[in-house]
Amino acid sequence: EGLFTYDPGFVATAACESGITYIDGAAGVLLHRGYPIEQLADNSNYVELSYLLMFGELPTAEQYRDFAGTVGRHTMVHEQIVNFYKGFRRDAHPMAILCGVVGGLAAFYHDNLDITDAEQRHVSAIRLIAKMPTLAAMCHKYNIGQPFMYPRNDLSYAENFLHMMFGNPCESYEVNPIMAKAMDRIFMLHADHEQNASTSTVRLTGSTGANPFACISAGIAALWGPAHGGANEAVLAMLDEIGDDSEENIQRFIDKAKDKNDPFKLMGFGHRVYRNFDPRAKVMKETCDEVLRELGIADDPQLKIAKRLEQIALEDEYFIERKLYPNVDFYSGIILKAIGIPTNMFTVIFAMARTVGWISHWNEMISNGYRIGRPRQLYTGHTKRDYPSSH
Ligand code: CMC
Repeated sequence: EGLFTYDPGFVATAACESGITYIDGAAGVLLHRGYPIEQLADNSNYVELSYLLMFGELPTAEQYRDFAGTVGRHTMVHEQIVNFYKGFRRDAHPMAILCGVVGGLAAFYHDNLDITDAEQRHVSAIRLIAKMPTLAAMCHKYNIGQPFMYPRNDLSYAENFLHMMFGNPCESYEVNPIMAKAMDRIFMLHADHEQNASTSTVRLTGSTGANPFACISAGIAALWGPAHGGANEAVLAMLDEIGDDSEENIQRFIDKAKDKNDPFKLMGFGHRVYRNFDPRAKVMKETCDEVLRELGIADDPQLKIAKRLEQIALEDEYFIERKLYPNVDFYSGIILKAIGIPTNMFTVIFAMARTVGWISHWNEMISNGYRIGRPRQLYTGHTKRDYPSSH
């Protein structure tokens, strides 16, 4: 009693064993079930990667067909969920809506849910993966006052999401294959990242035996902050604020980021685990160049600013000494913007893609046996004192 390891921020504490994702931060390596992220990004797709994360192996052709078919059949949400959306202010941030509606799903799948049953855990995971794009697109449609679009199960995962985001009931909407491919790649690059703040939150919440939909809602809340998933939205705000790519202007912002008396940080830079290039950022940068070229967007001003900023930062002593490199969020926003996704939806997309990671970790924890997560503290308050009789 009383002899605890004091580790604020959990920089040196492993809270679980896991066989899902491996990161070597010094070498800039990320493996999902042993497969390098670069190879998955080039050769796989989000639904296949979801299968891999959940089950540990790549699916056979038949297993893939079955899995994709099952995900496809669970894309609709209960019509009553529509009422839930209508209770929010029109201009509510879509992350606020998402936290609410995903937690609300627990009300639809709670009473008979036995989390000790592997089959029921599996169905819960499928429901979440399948319904997240529907719920996410509904947040956007509600914001802009357009009718909600029903999912189309003849489309791929990414195509269906774009259809629900940009389609409307009055005219047919052709999904641009370049955008669908880029979207799918963004989903893959965000699918899992071992014990980050949101995944740890899902595990901690799940360790009490809570409903899995409620656990994912807790994960969404943890992801929202600008130090975590909210960074993608913050990067675009930062690029807007920087405004132009002249050397002296960018240097001014680099100097602000280095100034310890200024709260400004380079958003999309730095990572707790990577002390080298975030391998996801490399793939993201290539994808960004590819997508903008294919969409015929020449000389995107924000991309120019981002590249210049990266270059100047990587040559600066401050960033070199602290091993600060661009992370996954640095280039993703520029691609999302080129696809036409509004900035306030960036973190929603991160949440959607990360859902498979969260639920795979939850399932791994429940399957392997676990104890309730219960950190200790170093007490710094008063010693015992008596309530004053005069009070
Ligand atoms: N700009 C300027 N300085 C920075 C930055 C930055 N983006 N990131 C870290 N530093 C400095 C920090 O001030 C500290 O300096 P010193 O040693 O002089 O006190 C040093 O680098 C070490 O950083 P730290 O704060 O100890 O690192 P951490 O592991 O506690 O925090 C982080 C990691 C990601 C929260 C932080 O780097 C950050 O806030 N980055 C910007 C936000 C961001 O891009 N987040 C997305 C992370 S990747 C995707 C995801 O997880 O969702």
